[in-house]
Amino acid sequence: MRKRKHKVLNLAHRGASGYAPENTMAAFRIAKEIGADGFEFDVQLSKDGVPVIIHDEALVRTTGAKGYVIEHTSDELARLDAGVWYGQDFQGQRIPTLEQVLQTYGDLYLNVELKNSYHEMPGLEEKVIELIRNYGVEQNVLISSFHHKSMQTLHRLAPDLKTGLLYDCVLVDAVTYAKRLGASALHPFYGTVKADLLREAKAAGVQVNVWTVNDEEQMRLCAEAGVDAIITNDPQLLYEVLNSVLD
Ligand code: G3P
Ligand code: MG
Repeated sequence: MRKRKHKVLNLAHRGASGYAPENTMAAFRIAKEIGADGFEFDVQLSKDGVPVIIHDEALVRTTGAKGYVIEHTSDELARLDAGVWYGQDFQGQRIPTLEQVLQTYGDLYLNVELKNSYHEMPGLEEKVIELIRNYGVEQNVLISSFHHKSMQTLHRLAPDLKTGLLYDCVLVDAVTYAKRLGASALHPFYGTVKADLLREAKAAGVQVNVWTVNDEEQMRLCAEAGVDAIITNDPQLLYEVLNSVLD
């Protein structure tokens, strides 16, 4: 891993999704090679209750298959090609399981996003907690979701684990809200973040991790404003920007 000078975390969005098919082991490997501190990825449950890594509920965009993730068993999902849509070089990439990722990349900072906002996925929180405990990677993981009740449940079940509230609007009293839900971080769309939010969050010990910042100038502005982490499709560019911004 390359050495970083800046304190802002560089997190690759869906892995290094600007360089490889999103949410695949290839995208995670490239994120590590580039020198990202870790990566964000999306988790859903298969029909047989296995946490699998894929963004869309429908399979068609990244695998060409029909139907939804939740309608397929983990064995069926494991046979799909999740790389060739992006390029021939990535033919044979599969939909990873959460277990595979924790096993391989437990040394990196892992932002596990629960994709349970549209389809209810009963038991997802418990299964994710169990795997994190099995691999002993509690310190390196932050779990986020747009489903804030799910984050509240997660905090109740595992108060030692870090949680983040995803949102893409301007929240009223965001920091108080985060504290009330036991969240350790806010995960706003970067365009909504203003100086007062960062000031209040810092004072309260709540992190602010922004997504998805792919533009060089915006990366610089976010870093200089004092966000804690930047989630990006281009961790290579972010790596260079962070190294050029003085602490
Ligand atoms: O976690 C940040 C970002 O991934 C949220 O949006 O749709 O890319 O999962 P999405
Ligand atoms: Mg995501």
